[in-house]
Amino acid sequence: MPPVVRLTHVEKTYKAEAIEVAALRGIDLEISPNRFSMLIGASGSGKTTLLNLIGCIDTPTRGTVEVAGQQIGTLSDDALAEFRARNIGFIFQNFSLVPVLSAYENVEYPLLLVGMPAAERRDRTLAMLEAVGLAKQAKQRPNELSGGQRQRVAIARALVKGPQIVLADEPTANLDSATGAAIIDLMRRVQAESNTTFIFATHDPHLMSHADQIVTIRDGMLIDPTPGAAA
Ligand SMILES: Nc1ncnc2c1ncn2[C@@H]1O[C@H](COP(=O)(O)OP(=O)(O)OP(=O)(O)O)[C@@H](O)[C@H]1O
Ligand SMILES: [Mg+2]
Repeated sequence: MPPVVRLTHVEKTYKAEAIEVAALRGIDLEISPNRFSMLIGASGSGKTTLLNLIGCIDTPTRGTVEVAGQQIGTLSDDALAEFRARNIGFIFQNFSLVPVLSAYENVEYPLLLVGMPAAERRDRTLAMLEAVGLAKQAKQRPNELSGGQRQRVAIARALVKGPQIVLADEPTANLDSATGAAIIDLMRRVQAESNTTFIFATHDPHLMSHADQIVTIRDGMLIDPTPGAAA
């Protein structure tokens, strides 16, 4: 199977005032489909920058990014937003749920964005809440849920549209270790069931044992990359 993510000679330089920061310095990376991949590295090494490029939130300074067979650099802003809405789910460290929406409404929201008909939307949303064990909490708002429950809502929201890729930036950093471990187990199970590629950034080496593929980044460069690891 062709890789679902392919980065070729990618560089990313941030310019703030007169200062340039070379956040990524020549990244070549392939990620196979249907894997639980982990991006590890110290704070400031470039993990979030790399996830933002894979997630089509940002563009590289040099090099090419290909996601799900699509060369990202060739898309207009509108086409890119549409591509992102259909193909990529995000799970953030701080959950970033909409506070005035219920768990149900938060999970349903990405389906509204892609214009799915109401009946299918309801079926999918309920099935996804069920899958993350939150059927009973459907009507509760984020501030009425525990941290682990909020993160499960975020996982359901990321997965509900059936994206090819789910990106998670330190999704367990704000959780206690037992809840974090339960969240990882849940993501692992959902990943295996849904044929989705998970790419998970963390600086916690304890999480490494859960990965099919580990990508280590240091100072904006990969060390010991595993391009095209067996699918
Ligand atoms: N918007 C920005 N403007 C300028 N520099 C930035 C910007 N975002 C990130 N950087 C710099 O780019 C480098 C990589 O940052 P990045 O956020 O990708 O690291 P990270 O590996 O995600 O770190 P952490 O584990 O702390 O989240 C750092 O030196 C950071 O200071
Ligand atoms: Mg980061």
